[in-house]
Amino acid sequence: MKQYRKEYKKDQLERQDLMDDPRELFRQWFGEAGAVDIAEPNRMILSTATPQGRVSSRVVLLKEISSQGYVFYTNYESDKAQQIDSNPRVALLFHWEVLERQVRIEGSAKRISEERSQAYYDTRPEGSRIGAWTSPQSQIIYGREELEESYKKYEQLYAGKEQIEKPPYWGGFEVVADRYEFWQGRQNRLHDRFVYTPSGAQSADLRWDVHRLAP
Ligand SMILES: Cc1cc2nc3c(=O)[nH]c(=O)nc-3n(C[C@H](O)[C@H](O)[C@H](O)COP(=O)(O)O)c2cc1C
Repeated sequence: MKQYRKEYKKDQLERQDLMDDPRELFRQWFGEAGAVDIAEPNRMILSTATPQGRVSSRVVLLKEISSQGYVFYTNYESDKAQQIDSNPRVALLFHWEVLERQVRIEGSAKRISEERSQAYYDTRPEGSRIGAWTSPQSQIIYGREELEESYKKYEQLYAGKEQIEKPPYWGGFEVVADRYEFWQGRQNRLHDRFVYTPSGAQSADLRWDVHRLAP
């Protein structure tokens, strides 16, 4: 294997840089990722697991940072959705390479309301809305033609119509976080890592403990 080696020296993360609420620090870092040359800073790796322990990861796009958590959209019949239905514990991972930063989030995913999914669906480009009807996500298919024929069928069905309905099996999940880790690359592999976990009893006014972790 070629020896890939890079020193990380862009920035640092000190205890005094941290906010009490990790959601605020996430918003700040997400904003900073949006301000530099990253094609899709909202790309995140979503890991899910069955109760039996089969673990799967894939990229999805963060579409909303809500007061509750982090929202992405998908097919509710997909492999990931079936895993979430049987075990809501998930992990999200952001890696913003140019900033030499990583954020790890753990939490529980739950479906958002039909109304919220519909509202987001209505903002999507026409091709994506038709695409949602076309793809039986995660199912075995026998060829690309199957997809393309199905796309044409729905395109004709909705031609000239104002409204493209949302498929009932398409919608959002919201990940409510209960663990955050912020990682800033540093020189000599002495990276900065801070982990936030909820302190004590859950209340509306959630407080967090913060600890530095060894890199
Ligand atoms: C950059 C990128 C963005 C993606 N965004 C989404 C997304 O927002 N929602 C989604 O369902 N799949 C998205 N995908 C596809 C997923 O990675 C995955 O292939 C698909 O959801 C099926 O996963 P599953 O079979 O584990 O359910 C994206 C893939 C890439 C590479």
